[in-house]
Amino acid sequence: MSLQLEEVFFRYEDQGPWVLEGISLEIPRGSTLGIAGGTGSGKTTLLMHLNGLLLPQKGRLLVDGEDPHDPHLSRQKRAARRRWLRRHVGLVFQYPENQLFEETVEKDIAFGPKNLGLPEAEIQARVERSMAALGLSFDLKGRSPFQLSGGQMRRVAVAGVLAMEPEVLVLDEPTAGLDPLGRQELLQLLLTWKKDHPLRTIIYVSHRMDEMALLAERLVVIHRGKIVAQGPPARLFLQEDLFRWGLEPPPTAQLLLGLKTRGLEAQVDRLDPREVALAIARARQKGAPCGKA
Ligand SMILES: Nc1ncnc2c1ncn2[C@@H]1O[C@H](COP(=O)(O)OP(=O)(O)OP(=O)(O)O)[C@@H](O)[C@H]1O
Ligand SMILES: [Mg+2]
Repeated sequence: MSLQLEEVFFRYEDQGPWVLEGISLEIPRGSTLGIAGGTGSGKTTLLMHLNGLLLPQKGRLLVDGEDPHDPHLSRQKRAARRRWLRRHVGLVFQYPENQLFEETVEKDIAFGPKNLGLPEAEIQARVERSMAALGLSFDLKGRSPFQLSGGQMRRVAVAGVLAMEPEVLVLDEPTAGLDPLGRQELLQLLLTWKKDHPLRTIIYVSHRMDEMALLAERLVVIHRGKIVAQGPPARLFLQEDLFRWGLEPPPTAQLLLGLKTRGLEAQVDRLDPREVALAIARARQKGAPCGKA
């Protein structure tokens, strides 16, 4: 499924300031898109347009080229398209564990598939597939989600969205509040999920640029409701001043920028610490500018 926003405007209050101000964005099928921006820049508001929770007040959303909110469609048809959109664009909210409510982990993960009216065997298969994808032991099935650690609760919440088998997985700061290991593990699990499902799309919101470097093919920066920069993360980190938008480039990018001001110009494809270290080591050996890693 491809998604496209065309000149989307949105505000929460009639006469208030625009929270989204002319957002145009293409999200092709199978892509991995990062969305970054400071607090209050409009990221969550933007995500809520992607699965039809919010409707553009100007501009439109296109899903595979068609507008699910097209006013020319009958009310029933629009409602059906919106239901379809919610089902296929799975949104993991900020702090999703706050929305766990069932007595057991299994029931919580099964909640979405059950609502789809799937047969019991298929629900079971989906619960197990998504638990495995999130690295959750099946022993946890009968446990209350409220007896789990924060990191496990987060994984159960993400597994509940994965069990819907969304074509587009949208995650709003999924690693917020996790410790470094929990963050790394969740990122690796998402990368593996993406590798196993190359035609599915991930849209990932984070303040953390090191995560963007690892995960996103393309990064979009929003500031006060407008897109101010986009491109491959490594390029943006090295060419743009992210601080002015309330963001901090990852340490690897800051290191490379520091070396550049001292005459060492490195061109790395990825800001992976090992690649960067290799490029610097080679440059030092040669006593010349850093080569491509
Ligand atoms: N329900 C609401 N009613 C009124 N204003 C809102 C509502 N939700 C968000 N806003 C305002 O819209 C703007 C954008 O908020 P949004 O939550 O989209 O930002 P964000 O980029 O996700 O921020 P954060 O990084 O803190 O999660 C903010 O100024 C916020 O105060
Ligand atoms: Mg937000």
